[in-house]
Amino acid sequence: MRSRTIGVALAGLLLALSPAGAQERFPERTVTVIVPFAAGGPTDVVARQLGEAMSRDLGVAVVAENVTGAGGTIGAQRVAQARPDGYTLLLGNVGVATAPALYRRLPYDPLTAFDTVGLITPVPMTLIGRPDLPAATLPELVAWIRRTGAEVNLAHAGLGSASHLCATLFRSLLQVPVTAVAFRGTAPIMTEMMGGRVDLACDQTTNTVPYIRDGRVKVFAVTTPRRLAALPDVPTTAEGGMPGLLVTIWHGFYVPRGTPRPVVERLAQSLRAALADPAVVARFADLATTPEPPERATPEAHRALLDAEIARWRPVIAAAGEYAD
Ligand code: MLT
Repeated sequence: MRSRTIGVALAGLLLALSPAGAQERFPERTVTVIVPFAAGGPTDVVARQLGEAMSRDLGVAVVAENVTGAGGTIGAQRVAQARPDGYTLLLGNVGVATAPALYRRLPYDPLTAFDTVGLITPVPMTLIGRPDLPAATLPELVAWIRRTGAEVNLAHAGLGSASHLCATLFRSLLQVPVTAVAFRGTAPIMTEMMGGRVDLACDQTTNTVPYIRDGRVKVFAVTTPRRLAALPDVPTTAEGGMPGLLVTIWHGFYVPRGTPRPVVERLAQSLRAALADPAVVARFADLATTPEPPERATPEAHRALLDAEIARWRPVIAAAGEYAD
């Protein structure tokens, strides 16, 4: 009897120490979400909002850590090289899919470095400018840019970032050589724009809505086919005479490749719970975005979109011939 009890205890101990036991008990400690852009910006806002809701679901702290630089690739590399145990996640936007084509010496391959967890939220963008910019509408802005030319500076968050893609599309439609300026995220761009040192940017509503609402920056258009309920007075790019400037970007959670499947599934389940959380839904709506539906907040839906987006952007970037190295 005694040896049976010892046997059962030993089996329990072995399970506790085994990888399978660790997976069953996941999570046991703080989960870190690497935000590859500056604190206070659009990726950070989404990470912190989700982190609070996921903490409630997972029963451990979910904290955001900003690891910035090189259009988000420094933060992505940190996650690609992290231990594949589910305790380090990347919150990446479309930049994860543009990086392989733009950064020819990338130290990781986004197609093989990560396991996908789920899609999070599609976010529209806004074309914004410094408060004293001498234009009130998109046509006036275009006329001012044509008069001012290369002295106009257009800020973005590094090559391949969402703001860079939108800025690149805007520049190609304008056919005027303005000056592009890179930052470590779009949060620092807002400070510079309010101070009058940055003229323009195309940034996500998850950052810009509060600044637009209280007039700290000027807004010229939303990059969506229809006006947004959160910014009903702001015309679309088509209304402003630039129908080709349509950009909505996507976000997803990644873990290092090789993370145990039950752990990935637990994180995806927690993501879906967070996306259904009324506080998250309300905050996202206020910032002109909506949570992805449950069928898209899955590893499979996310993987399919990532593969398609990498294939879509590679020829576009090759044709533009602009590389980060
Ligand atoms: C940020 O969080 O600063 C932005 O998402 C950067 C970007 O434009 O992609």
